[in-house]
Amino acid sequence: MCGIVGYIGEQEACQILVDGLKKLEYRGYDSAGVALLNENGIDVRKSVGKLKALECALENCVPRGHLGIGHTRWATHGRPSDENAHPHSDCTGKLTVVHNGIIENYMALKERLVSEGHEFKSETDTEVAAHLVESYYNGDLAEAVRKAARDMEGSFALVIIATDEPDKIVAARRHSPLVIGLGKGENYLASDVAAFLKHTRKVLFADDDTLAVITRDGVTLTDLNGNVVEKAAQTIEWDAAMAERGGYEHFMLKEIHEQPRALRETMRGRLAPDKDFIELPGINLTEDEIKKIDRIIMIACGTAYHASMAGKYAIEQLCRIPVEIDVASELRYRDPIVDDRTLGIVISQSGETLDTVVGLREVKEKGAKIVAITNVVGSMAARESDGVLYTYAGPEIAVASTKAYTTQLMVLYLIAMYFAQVRGTISPQRAAELRQALWDLPQLAEVILNDYQSVIAAADRYYCFNGFLYMARGINLASALEGALKIKEISYMHAEGYAAGEMKHGPIAMIDPTFVTVAVTVQSKTYDKMLGNIREVKARAGEVIAIAYNGDTGIKDYADRVIYIPQTEEIFSPALVAIPLQLMAYFVAHNRGPAIDQPRNLAKTVTVE
Ligand code: M6R
Repeated sequence: MCGIVGYIGEQEACQILVDGLKKLEYRGYDSAGVALLNENGIDVRKSVGKLKALECALENCVPRGHLGIGHTRWATHGRPSDENAHPHSDCTGKLTVVHNGIIENYMALKERLVSEGHEFKSETDTEVAAHLVESYYNGDLAEAVRKAARDMEGSFALVIIATDEPDKIVAARRHSPLVIGLGKGENYLASDVAAFLKHTRKVLFADDDTLAVITRDGVTLTDLNGNVVEKAAQTIEWDAAMAERGGYEHFMLKEIHEQPRALRETMRGRLAPDKDFIELPGINLTEDEIKKIDRIIMIACGTAYHASMAGKYAIEQLCRIPVEIDVASELRYRDPIVDDRTLGIVISQSGETLDTVVGLREVKEKGAKIVAITNVVGSMAARESDGVLYTYAGPEIAVASTKAYTTQLMVLYLIAMYFAQVRGTISPQRAAELRQALWDLPQLAEVILNDYQSVIAAADRYYCFNGFLYMARGINLASALEGALKIKEISYMHAEGYAAGEMKHGPIAMIDPTFVTVAVTVQSKTYDKMLGNIREVKARAGEVIAIAYNGDTGIKDYADRVIYIPQTEEIFSPALVAIPLQLMAYFVAHNRGPAIDQPRNLAKTVTVE
């Protein structure tokens, strides 16, 4: 996720901006830049790579100015490069912007602006904002930004400076974070307070669709129609490390909580309540090509492999295309059957997992088209695939994958529904029901995250047990495996995920009073069978936690504890079931004490075979 900083005041701004950007490094980035306003105009410096590269570029000639903006970029549109790095300017060079978020309708806006004669230098959606503001600018920067913001769909924290109004910074936001730091005779702004905490703890959190005009001496907030908005300042008590984690004790917990936002970002521009179709422009397959596909092979490792398990169910169910799933490290040794009617889907948060990339090459060489689902623009998987569908989860810092998993599920659901739409394998009415259910998913995730006392209570009871067994059936087998993986990697406890029907073929031997079984009971077709499995565990003195739908009061008669989640369509349920399981792993690990964000022996990205 991009990081934004801004400063206006008495001091030279450049070092303040660079220091602020350093505090935002944890957000992940691939390039950085600053823009300083002085009597000669706006001095923009930017470079691809880490902040060190920017610092080198600034070394011999530090840009001067008491007003400036800075940015670290996490690429979403256009590869990481000097040209795509922020800040971006309009045609005249008199307006300069930095931006965090995704402007969904940037292509349409860009076409309009190009037809009006604007010239673009980058591939970013952000540059559209610079030219859009230019097209409205008539000596009143705030009004031009308000008009531009009204035209923009999607998410943005937009910060802009203008040579003709050298006494102010103008900022606007919708769905992307932006906080204003209040000093004496100087003011700051940033994506989060970590950037300016050493200067001030007094802050204003701007609401969605708010515009801020920031001068040395004050801040005026308005809505996008220009009506003044009153907002009380708050005092931040967090220390610097806590501020980076948004007040959460660990990145993992922060990232678990970011899932509703990440899911929404991943849907944006692809699914909308007022559209009766799904759009997946990045997939780069014609309708004829989609109709020709007779087999899909999914390639992934770890958590991404679990996403592929759920994806297989969704695609086979909705599109009736056979799907094979492979742990990437095994794929090439089985000499898979692939031809030009095969579609390879590669799933990788980092896009750099070597086994996955090697699997991609294997399937591609054999003649398949490849679509990558990845979180990192310009990653190897993205570069080597024919089409790319990004998960807009933002950087995932904790080693244990959480928001990457649920956003991978989201993309797989979108693919399943898109293919069903193109191939006509579900009725329009069913398609509409599914679109609505998918649209509602982030809000249901929010419901879970608003109250998870039952998960904390379960973790408090079971963290000192000998082991966890996760059992489920159908599409939630993926959830069972993912729940077990989460526990293993951060709490180092023995945990297994099993198809509940397999219990009697071995794992039930492990059940005793020190072993807890987590049973996912949200599937209607296999509900009674799951109750049977729970009974079998209870008969052997094992304890059971059920993950059940709200309203299932009967389950209390079977399980020792119940964790309720809201109802959704069965194929989408893994995206909700994942959340209490992630929280369970987090709180179990928290009770046991290991380093949650960086568990022993693990790397975030495995770049060796
Ligand atoms: O970057 P990738 O999605 O390719 O990574 C794959 C696995 O290494 C990853 O999902 C791993 O299993 C997670 N740390 C699990 O939480």
